[in-house]
Amino acid sequence: MNNPFSTFEQTGVIPVIAIDRVEDAIPLADALLEGGLPLAEITFRTAAAAEVIARIRQQRPEILVGAGTLLDAESVAIASQSGAAFGLAPGTDPRVLEAAQQQGMPFAPGIMTPSDLSLTLPFATKVAKFFPAGIIGGPSALQGISAPFSHLGIRFIPTGGIGEQTLADWLRLPMVLAVGGSWIARSEDIRAGNFRQITRNAQAARAIVAQ
Ligand code: 3PG
Repeated sequence: MNNPFSTFEQTGVIPVIAIDRVEDAIPLADALLEGGLPLAEITFRTAAAAEVIARIRQQRPEILVGAGTLLDAESVAIASQSGAAFGLAPGTDPRVLEAAQQQGMPFAPGIMTPSDLSLTLPFATKVAKFFPAGIIGGPSALQGISAPFSHLGIRFIPTGGIGEQTLADWLRLPMVLAVGGSWIARSEDIRAGNFRQITRNAQAARAIVAQ
């Protein structure tokens, strides 16, 4: 498989999704596809996550689907078995990074400080989630934190507290690979069957990326 993170760069945004019901998986996938976003991070915050990933993988293979909120080695293994093409976490835990390496899963650990980023270096991960981006201090915080590591070519996925209003500010930074967020496919909209709204949000995000 090609490096899944190259798809992140193409779409510019990655919807972070917490989904409760497996039967919503395909309507959600279709809403994202219609909105021009063939990418989804399904977070391991709900019991349905692994099955949702498996279903999208099987029935909508044109979507690149991965797992988020992977907080322990067991979740990494389950995500990998369900077909997750990539994994992310809000923080950096060497045990989780080791598990991802063992599973051969491309993985983006979460970082907030230079110390967090230093902890990822033995694993040679080239992508890190910058979390929670909005409240750490915005784009200038990422510029400052990443500056001493700039020769390593690490790219970042700012996530947390970002929406349509601030998306463009983050995309301007050369070290930003893509921006993550739950605003595109909100749990409330999925629960309410409001898939048209998800398509509209995806289209709006893609339009900002294209500018
Ligand atoms: C995540 O898991 O990445 C965050 O919960 C997403 O943050 P947001 O809801 O502020 O977009």
